[in-house]
Amino acid sequence: MRQMVVEQRLGYVASVCSDGTANLSPQGTVAVWDDRHLVFAHIHSHQTVANIEAGHVVVEVNVVDPIRRNGYRFKGPAEVHREGDLYDAGAEFFQRRSGLDRRRIRAIVLIRVERAAAVLSPSYDDGSSEADIEQRFLALYGLRRAEPQAGGEDGGADASATGALDADHTGLGIAVPVRGLFETHLTVTDLERSMTFYREVVGLQVALEVPERGAAFHWIGRPGQAMLGLWSIGSAPVGMQLHIAFEMSLPDVLAAPEQLAAQGIQPLSFFAEPADEPSVIGWMPAAAVYFRDPDGHLIEYLAMLEGPARPELGIVPWSRRAG
Ligand SMILES: Cc1cc2nc3c(=O)[nH]c(=O)nc-3n(C[C@H](O)[C@H](O)[C@H](O)COP(=O)(O)O)c2cc1C
Repeated sequence: MRQMVVEQRLGYVASVCSDGTANLSPQGTVAVWDDRHLVFAHIHSHQTVANIEAGHVVVEVNVVDPIRRNGYRFKGPAEVHREGDLYDAGAEFFQRRSGLDRRRIRAIVLIRVERAAAVLSPSYDDGSSEADIEQRFLALYGLRRAEPQAGGEDGGADASATGALDADHTGLGIAVPVRGLFETHLTVTDLERSMTFYREVVGLQVALEVPERGAAFHWIGRPGQAMLGLWSIGSAPVGMQLHIAFEMSLPDVLAAPEQLAAQGIQPLSFFAEPADEPSVIGWMPAAAVYFRDPDGHLIEYLAMLEGPARPELGIVPWSRRAG
């Protein structure tokens, strides 16, 4: 369910007007707030919000995958937060996830999900599988699905489910919708040594070696998902120590200090001090473990955490994240 909301980036919110008529309003900011709540950002949804504020608090939200022809419908009472902690946390969330300027957010609407049900197209009535339906509707729209991620829920899916959806940049015409960061590059003094490190410690797969340019490219995750380039600068007496973070599942981040230590690598805290547990970065919120590669680049394993941002927490060891 959560995954569907996270993936779709669009929900339809039905509310009831004072004259009893229905009101349906598309919301590209529909997002999972926590296990019991959805939110969306009121930017131009005056009638929906007026209906809730007039006392017709129960809304229904439908989130449907137009290709797989399935989805979920959620129902429950909504609250409109025009200011206060919830507004601040919601605005900060949309700002962080998608750069949505809080001045554009008139209110954060919080919906308590009291009923949730799957909804399925009659296209399935003839016994078609989801894969059949997907193929049929991809063809109908002239689309092609990107390769599914290896590892399913343990890969990007989990991490992207940590909070909620981005504001719908496309729908709202705010910006060209960047989907993610694809590649990054580091300079190294000894290419062989660094390739061994990134293969054996970090577990990256070599994608391409270009010896004549002193370069090697590695896939991050499945082939084609993201890339790390290593570029040899040999014995040049200058260099720069850079920082990159790899996205991991939370269980893997929690296991990383012990695993790194077993590989002879010193795990570090956010403050680059020896640590045997992840650091929690409250404002994101995220858990992260750090270490150095052979050139001193600061490498991070990071998992976003569920729930709202906790900037008041600052940056603390994992064992002190409560409270
Ligand atoms: C794809 C799409 C996404 C949208 N996302 C949002 C949104 O996240 N927040 C918002 O306030 N309006 C959003 N809108 C605009 C509202 O749906 C639109 O202004 C609507 O007419 C408001 O209806 P209402 O006043 O009945 O709520 C979106 C519109 C579209 C087509």
